Amino acid sequence: MAEIARSTPTSSSSSPLNPHPTARIFPGSRCNLVFAVWSFVGFVLLIHLYTVVTHDKNKGDIYVHSSRVAPTRELEEVEEENFRLPPPRSKRNPRAVKRRGPRRPPTVIDEFLDESSEIHSLFFPDQRTAVVPTQGGNDSMHFYPGRLWLDTDGNPIQAHGGGILYDKATETYYWYGENKDGPTYQAHKNGAARVDIIGVSCYSSKDLWAWTNEGIVLSGDESNVTHDLYKSNVLERPKVIYNDKTSKYVMWMHIDDTNYTKASVGVAVSDSATGPFTYLYSMRPHGFDSRDMTIFKDDDGKAYLIYSSEENSELHVGLLTDNYLDLTREMKRVLVKKHREAPAVFKYEGTYYMITSGCSGWAPNKALAHAALSIMGPWETLGNPCVGGNRIFRLTTFFSQSTFVLPLPGLPGSFIFMADRWNPSELRDSRYVWLPLAIGGVADEPLEYSFGFPLWSRVSIYWHRRWRLPDGWSNA
Ligand code: GAL
Repeated sequence: MAEIARSTPTSSSSSPLNPHPTARIFPGSRCNLVFAVWSFVGFVLLIHLYTVVTHDKNKGDIYVHSSRVAPTRELEEVEEENFRLPPPRSKRNPRAVKRRGPRRPPTVIDEFLDESSEIHSLFFPDQRTAVVPTQGGNDSMHFYPGRLWLDTDGNPIQAHGGGILYDKATETYYWYGENKDGPTYQAHKNGAARVDIIGVSCYSSKDLWAWTNEGIVLSGDESNVTHDLYKSNVLERPKVIYNDKTSKYVMWMHIDDTNYTKASVGVAVSDSATGPFTYLYSMRPHGFDSRDMTIFKDDDGKAYLIYSSEENSELHVGLLTDNYLDLTREMKRVLVKKHREAPAVFKYEGTYYMITSGCSGWAPNKALAHAALSIMGPWETLGNPCVGGNRIFRLTTFFSQSTFVLPLPGLPGSFIFMADRWNPSELRDSRYVWLPLAIGGVADEPLEYSFGFPLWSRVSIYWHRRWRLPDGWSNA
């Protein structure tokens, strides 16, 4: 016991780590113990302060890193959604029931898609709740997934199946997407609801909330029936990246015919982010059918096309040429037999991530998150990233389908998940579901393991009825 008391690091010196055995002077003193504890606490606090406040070498001023934890905490709060579903309606007359027997009761998704249902109006609220960026007040800078979202001219934003480019030169965000502001119709009795090609819209913003319409940067073709962009064809999911070597803005998009049998990708190019884009051509990438797609520009300047192929049963990842206008022959099949579409690819700390949807046309379904150490794969499936809301929200990606994931430069590990809430009864009235996406912690239910390694981080998309970006999101 005496030996222990002697070597206990308590002393009259100011450091609890003092190696000199001065304990013998006041052996067993309570006062010393208290002093040691407080010294230790002080030391820990100092270390903590040191780690949160560091010198930003580039800017030469003090930069507080603690903003990583505090500001995103609100975004990562789990928000439950308790809505009572109205009872399903029986629209069939009794004679039909007698003739054909009872039909399965409509599901929530059937009701959601039926424009005359109460559920439908719950998820497509009218202009009275529209997000109006020119109005100040409490709603300023707040995102409301599913509400009508107006541009700075007061018109609903038309940028469906879209993606965002950050233009370093002008420090501006550009949002490109399908302009679906035309009548919805069915080309054939059993065909998908469609809108003629109008073109690709572009909107610009500095804050990701107030968007200015920059017009149609790639137009549909009204008269030339042989043109890919002839109005009765299909142009979906346009995405734009910037080529640093050629100083060109390059757009890739899904090009199809009315019946989705052409299954190709199209390429267009422009000298300016706001267009006009010149349409170059379409092709079947690597000779394969290609439907939902996206492009991804990596940190090293290489860019890739990621497309659903083999009748949507798998995805292909193909390296683009240096000028981004064509594909190289390098291609890998990934997520084979998984039947995924609507890919949105992003990267964090050297790991590639992807959110995909299942294949159910305009109807919403369950999202999955995937991860890979190389963009060419192998890709592993982590599970459903949706958090909060309620069970049906999580099983339907909050009644929407992925289109893009945007990194927030000042908040490493935080992203905006962008999705479309399609309205196939009136496609122009499809809504945007933007929610915070965070990477962090260990995936709780990885659907696949490679011998348990690597331990992928969890990808979480947090439901919020109303949310805003925290301060500091744009500090690059
Ligand atoms: C979805 C696809 C949409 C659109 C739709 C047509 O599967 O993600 O982009 O093509 O089908 O029904």
